[in-house]
Amino acid sequence: MTGDDYILQADRLHKSFGRRAARVHVLRGLDLSVRRGEFLAVMGPSGCGKSTLLHVIGLMTPCDAGRIVMNGSPVAPSENARNAIRRTQIGFIFQRFNLLGVLSAAHNVEVSLKVRGLRADGRARELFEAMGISHVMHRRPGQMSIGEQQRVAVVRALAHRPAIVLADEPTGNLDSDNADALLDLFRKINLRENQTIVMITHSAEAAGRADRVVHMKDGRIID
Ligand SMILES: Nc1ncnc2c1ncn2[C@@H]1O[C@H](COP(=O)(O)OP(=O)(O)O)[C@@H](O)[C@H]1O
Ligand SMILES: [Mg+2]
Repeated sequence: MTGDDYILQADRLHKSFGRRAARVHVLRGLDLSVRRGEFLAVMGPSGCGKSTLLHVIGLMTPCDAGRIVMNGSPVAPSENARNAIRRTQIGFIFQRFNLLGVLSAAHNVEVSLKVRGLRADGRARELFEAMGISHVMHRRPGQMSIGEQQRVAVVRALAHRPAIVLADEPTGNLDSDNADALLDLFRKINLRENQTIVMITHSAEAAGRADRVVHMKDGRIID
């Protein structure tokens, strides 16, 4: 396989928090390669650094050492370089959705596009339809069910056509029916649009729906 087959390559990532005695070395020379079009699940015990990994490969948090190649290009570590690539190439789905409570679903998506210098086009409406939530477009998060809120978060993550979608325990706050529905949507998007998805999960059942599962331990991917 050549480098072109990978949408993301992370080599020997290190990340620590805190200083001196309080220092926690979270990522310890972690390697991870994600293939184009792959639906990958990452599992690991609580506190092992899964969210840290997602924030680092999602270019929100700088690593202390290591290299990230996104869509064939090495990412320079400066904040400007990371921001520019993050805005265009990355879609993020949080466990707690992180929707803006004062805005409607449609406006949440519009704001996300706007910060990326994009305008809402037919894509957002299509995604609301594909997710089965056209009826909540003009509602605020507080007027939606939990499952609907999470699906709005998925629309927001996909609207700018990111190269890779990163999801941090996206089913963690959902009941099993909603979790199932979300995983079905991930699979549908993955197949229909060849969308690359990296999903962190605690749930073996959720992980079982992915193409490949890797495990994190002691700051590394162990398989
Ligand atoms: N911003 C931060 N400052 C200090 N410590 C942090 C920070 N973020 C995470 N940590 C620590 O790093 C470790 C890994 O956290 P995290 O990546 O959230 O793990 P996981 O998502 O696997 O539960 C934990 O010990 C956590 O307390
Ligand atoms: Mg976490």
